[in-house]
Amino acid sequence: MGIDYADISQTYDEHRSFSKHLVDKVAEFGGIQEGMKALDVGCGTGNLASQLLDMMNLDMIGVDISLSMLEVARGKSLEVICTDAANNRLPFCDSCFDIITATYVIHQISNLELLFSECYRVLRDGALVLLTSSHEQIENEHPVFKRFFPGAIDVDKARFPDIPVICEMLVTAGFHDIRQESVLGASILIDDEYLQKVKGKYVSTYRLLPQREFERGVAELETYIKNLSQPESTVWRGTLIYGRKKG
Ligand SMILES: C[S@@+](CC[C@H](N)C(=O)[O-])C[C@H]1O[C@@H](n2cnc3c(N)ncnc32)[C@H](O)[C@@H]1O
Repeated sequence: MGIDYADISQTYDEHRSFSKHLVDKVAEFGGIQEGMKALDVGCGTGNLASQLLDMMNLDMIGVDISLSMLEVARGKSLEVICTDAANNRLPFCDSCFDIITATYVIHQISNLELLFSECYRVLRDGALVLLTSSHEQIENEHPVFKRFFPGAIDVDKARFPDIPVICEMLVTAGFHDIRQESVLGASILIDDEYLQKVKGKYVSTYRLLPQREFERGVAELETYIKNLSQPESTVWRGTLIYGRKKG
């Protein structure tokens, strides 16, 4: 089922911003450097792209299927193009980028073979960097899902391709020097503010749960938070994957 980003776009940045640590980590892992020609696939509101541009001078463009997400990105003066990367070739010539990023996107792309071969085509001597979640991380590193929304684990394991599968697809597309690294995605403070974010279904997984299951989880989470003597903190981790063309 596709996710409707029309209303998510209004609060996306508030709820899903990238920490400085994560942006630095993506830049370091991908070897992103001043002056590179960069493409962010599934750029959404330009969360990552705008922070990378704050850090260094890049010739950056983003593509995304959602007009409402792109409208927010345009508001940050990002250059963006609307395209469905699951069903179309990327609207760029061969060998024109030094770096491509795609963060929290590949689980929404039905035809990853096409996307990866297109990324390979439009890269020069450069790298593709993905940020996603492994099946182990989905099962073990999201304590709120595990405890209050156990059905969410199956939802995400069904839609997130597991890391070995992704790596194999990258090799098939022509990439080499494949690397992966677990990374701190976000620190989560389980408090009233967090509860409001969950109620607003700030992560698309919540939108894919049956409504009754979602409401039951919210009620249990609410009671849990009410009974906490102080807000509890936890972390959520993701996986960075790197593949290189040439080099
Ligand atoms: C969870 S958001 C991630 C946005 C951004 N990369 C970030 O890290 O904040 C997923 C994004 O993928 C985009 N997307 C989903 N399917 C797509 C497709 N077929 N082609 C291009 N973008 C797509 C959505 O519109 C959405 O903006």
